[in-house]
Amino acid sequence: MRSLTSGELRELYLDFFRGKGHTVIPSASLIPENDPTVLFTTAGMHPLVPYLMGEKHPAGKRLVDVQKCVRTGDIDEVGDTSHCTFFEMLGNWSLGDYFKAESIAWSWEFLTGPDWLGIPGEKLHFTCFEGDADAPRDTVSRDRWVEMGASPAHIVYLGKRHNWWGPAGQTGPCGPDTEIFYDTGLPSCGSDCAAGCDCGKYLEIWNNVFMEYNKTESGEFVPLSQKNVDTGMGLDRTVATLQGVPSVFDTDAFTDIIGRIAALSGKGYHDSPEVTRAFRIIADHIRCAVFMLGDQRGITPSNVDQGYVLRRLIRRAIRFAMQLGIPDKGLCDVARQVIDQYGPAYPELEKSRETILCELQKEENRFAHMLKKGIREFNKVATARTRDEIDGVAAFHLYDTYGFPIEFTAELAAEQGLTVDRNGFAAAFRAHQESSKAGAEQRFKGGLADSTEATSRLHTATHLLQTALRKVLGDENIAQKGSNITAERLRFDFSFPRKVTPEECAQVEALVNEAIAADLPVTCEEMSVAAAKAAGAIGLFDDRYDSLVKVYTVGDFCKEICGGPHAARTGELGRFVIAKEEASSSGVRRIKAVLK
Ligand code: ALA
Repeated sequence: MRSLTSGELRELYLDFFRGKGHTVIPSASLIPENDPTVLFTTAGMHPLVPYLMGEKHPAGKRLVDVQKCVRTGDIDEVGDTSHCTFFEMLGNWSLGDYFKAESIAWSWEFLTGPDWLGIPGEKLHFTCFEGDADAPRDTVSRDRWVEMGASPAHIVYLGKRHNWWGPAGQTGPCGPDTEIFYDTGLPSCGSDCAAGCDCGKYLEIWNNVFMEYNKTESGEFVPLSQKNVDTGMGLDRTVATLQGVPSVFDTDAFTDIIGRIAALSGKGYHDSPEVTRAFRIIADHIRCAVFMLGDQRGITPSNVDQGYVLRRLIRRAIRFAMQLGIPDKGLCDVARQVIDQYGPAYPELEKSRETILCELQKEENRFAHMLKKGIREFNKVATARTRDEIDGVAAFHLYDTYGFPIEFTAELAAEQGLTVDRNGFAAAFRAHQESSKAGAEQRFKGGLADSTEATSRLHTATHLLQTALRKVLGDENIAQKGSNITAERLRFDFSFPRKVTPEECAQVEALVNEAIAADLPVTCEEMSVAAAKAAGAIGLFDDRYDSLVKVYTVGDFCKEICGGPHAARTGELGRFVIAKEEASSSGVRRIKAVLK
């Protein structure tokens, strides 16, 4: 087996699939566009949903990428050996092209081939879908693994809970998957211990999803017009396996980040279990925060949506940094290391270096202020109490609102001879976790899989809105920061330094409604990024995108890079009304609008 660094695995994976006729596409933003169902891109498939549903992808039918992902549902687990909030997912894609036979043969070749990962075939184990009322048992995948050389004894069938994959938004493309595990050589935990068992013996390294169904709102599984392949290999996790280290934090990806934390704190990574955990939390959270702040659709800390998750990550990192005795501004130093290290693979980080460091510093200053307020609140609670104990709900309030860890509250309490009801705190915490887990990444129905007429019309209206804003407020002032469309409304975020006045909103509305009244045709062309720029198209240009993009033109009104779908003519849109104009975060405005 070859021991590869993270950078080497990234390149090798792309090379391998390039050799199998795949086009390399750049990582999409961490912030999903036009998708209200999720806050973050949670898997490689997410930005590709429209193409899995049948839209034509300009780069072709075979794609390969390394996608930035964020999953925050398990944020409180970070600190163990495997959980991370940010990760990179290597993926290869067939959009109605090859299917199970090629996908499995190539996975086997990449994993076991001496020029590739060189993992001995006998170390690999597999799970396949056992079948149920919605889809048959996946004997095709099982037989194909055996044909490739897998031991039949290493393959097990499991149900939907394990071997079925769909998007976080629940409706949309989905299908059975076959998962590939590496046998660590640890003893079995019992007689039924096999691939899929979570005792730690078998590590999942790759997941091949055969997306051939669309799960509808009513819960039905309808065959898709095309059969797709979506695979996902976690980069850090596979590197940990290849390097034979016990956790992702022991791979080369974290060596220098952890080294920086050690230098700043004067502590050793292995000093004690608590110290190790604090190191990991800081390393993970700062890496994730850097990627969020430096994303092509960069976000800043706030109290809502993505900004809130970012704030939580930074504050959590600060608390653990305080625990380790890291001086003020120390986290910026950790962030610098993350940028130095990931900048070559993700140029957007290098481009936003100053913004990332400045926002991080601002949040640290704000939190220092919050600590003072929190301590005042604590003193109030401590004075008002009826027993020698701070009750659990109050302790949770200090945690949730002022960012006080329970240990911090316990320390303050001890100084006044008080204790804290930790059981009550744990109960309040669990109740909150359950409600926020359900809401953390999954929010509304619809999303990228939704290409109903209502959403298509709102997509077109969003283009008209952006152009109208540029006309009224000045081209140079406006940059799109995010767009989020449900069947009922559009939401558009853009950089602008002040409130848009009601008069300006009225002008924008009027311009959009004029374009609608003119019943302009909406046309789509595929062209290179350079040609799109030359044609004056607006939109997020990704310079690493070396292939074709789709450009939608609305009459002579506007031209924009976009994946679609759109209305055929503006006359279908109805009347455009701005429902709300508000701040989204500092320097970013948000407009919500409807079509009546
Ligand atoms: N979309 C699949 C996953 O995330 C590959 O596991």
